[in-house]
Amino acid sequence: MLADRYGRIATDLRVSLTDRCNLRCTYCMPEEGLAWLPKPEVLTDEEVVRLVGVAVERLGVREVRFTGGEPLLRRGLVDIVAACAGLKPRPELSVTTNAVGLTRVAQALADAGLDRVNGSLDTLSADRFEKLTHRRRLDDVLAGLAAADAAGLVPVKVNAVLMRDVNDDEAPDLLTWALDHGYELRFIEQMPLDAQHAWRRDEMITAGDILAALQRHFDLTPDSPEERGSAPAEKWLVNGGPARVGIIASVTRPFCGTCDRTRLTADGQVRTCLFARDESDLRGAMRGGASDEELAERWKVAMYGKAAGHGIDDPSFLQPSRPMSSIGG
Ligand code: GTP
Ligand code: 5AD
Ligand code: SF4
Repeated sequence: MLADRYGRIATDLRVSLTDRCNLRCTYCMPEEGLAWLPKPEVLTDEEVVRLVGVAVERLGVREVRFTGGEPLLRRGLVDIVAACAGLKPRPELSVTTNAVGLTRVAQALADAGLDRVNGSLDTLSADRFEKLTHRRRLDDVLAGLAAADAAGLVPVKVNAVLMRDVNDDEAPDLLTWALDHGYELRFIEQMPLDAQHAWRRDEMITAGDILAALQRHFDLTPDSPEERGSAPAEKWLVNGGPARVGIIASVTRPFCGTCDRTRLTADGQVRTCLFARDESDLRGAMRGGASDEELAERWKVAMYGKAAGHGIDDPSFLQPSRPMSSIGG
C-alpha cells in the first residue's frame, strides 16, 4: 500500500510516457519546444510495464493513466496498454491526450484494453486554436475525440484551460458543444507549471469566474458530494441533468487533502505530487538490478514523505523545476 504520513493512500498512478509533444500550448511550453529527455534516460516499454506491474500487483494501485507530453507520440503505447490490461487485478486504464493523433489509434487502444480517454481542448475556433497551440490542428482534435467516442472509450472527458483575454469568453460555447456531443467537459484552473514561468496568480481565471460565466446561460445545481470521492473535479448538473460539467479548481479550492495519486515520470522517477520538490529514482534502482520487492519498498518510502499540499498560496512557494510536460499532466 502507498500510504503517506497524513493517512492518504495512493491508488491512482499517472505514468508519463514521453515529455515530447506535437502541440505547443502557450500555458505549457514555448513555441520552439523544450530540451527533450535524452532517449537512454526514458524508460523502455518493458521497464514501464514492469513498474506499473509493481504498482498494481504489490502496492494496491487500481487506476493507471498514461500521460505526457503527448502519450500518443509513444510508439509502444498500444502494446504497453495491452500488457497492463493483463495485470492482476486488472487496473482501470486511461489516457490523457491532446487528441491530435486519436483517429489513428482509438480503436486499437480500445481493443488493447483501454477503458477511457480524456482529451484537451481549449477553444472551438480554428484561429484561436492555432494561436493557443502554435499548430493548425483543431479538425484533427475534433475528429480524434469523435473516434474515441465511437471506439467506446467513454465517457470521453474534455479538459479546457481558460485564460484571460485569450479564450475566457468561450465557456458557454464549449459547454453547449460538449453537451451536443455527449462529452463530459471540465474546466481547469491554470496552474504554475509552465516551462516559461509566466503564470500569475492575479491573472488566472478562477473556478468562481467560470461558474459565474456558465450560470448566465445554464441552470447549474451542485452534484452530490458523495459522488466526488478523491476526484479533482467538482461537478454540477446542467439544466437539471443528467449531463454534468466539472471544474477542477486546483488553485482556489485545492483537493490535496483527499489526493490519491502517485506519479512516474518518463525517465522513471517517482513523484509524490505535481508540485513535489524531490523525486525517487526507480530507473536507476531498476537498471542497477533491484528486485520488484526492492522497487516496491522504494516507492513506499517516497510516498510516505508526500507533502500535505501544493502550497501555491504560501509566500515561500517555488514552482517545480520540471514543467508539466515533463512531470506528466
Ligand atoms: P478522471 O478520472 O477522468 O476524472 O481523471 P483526472 O481528472 O484525474 O485526469 P486528467 O488527466 O484529465 O486531469 C485533469 C486535470 O486535473 C489536469 O489537467 C490537471 O490540471 C489536474 N490534475 C491532474 N492531476 C493533478 C494533481 O495531482 N494535482 C493537481 N492539483 N491537479 C491535477
Ligand atoms: N495548468 C492547468 N492545466 C494544465 N494542463 C497543461 N498545463 C496546465 C497548467 N499549467 C492541462 C492540459 C491537459 C492536461 C494534461 O493538463 O490542458 O488537459
Ligand atoms: Fe502538449 Fe499538453 Fe503541453 Fe499542450 S498542454 S503542449 S498538448 S503537453
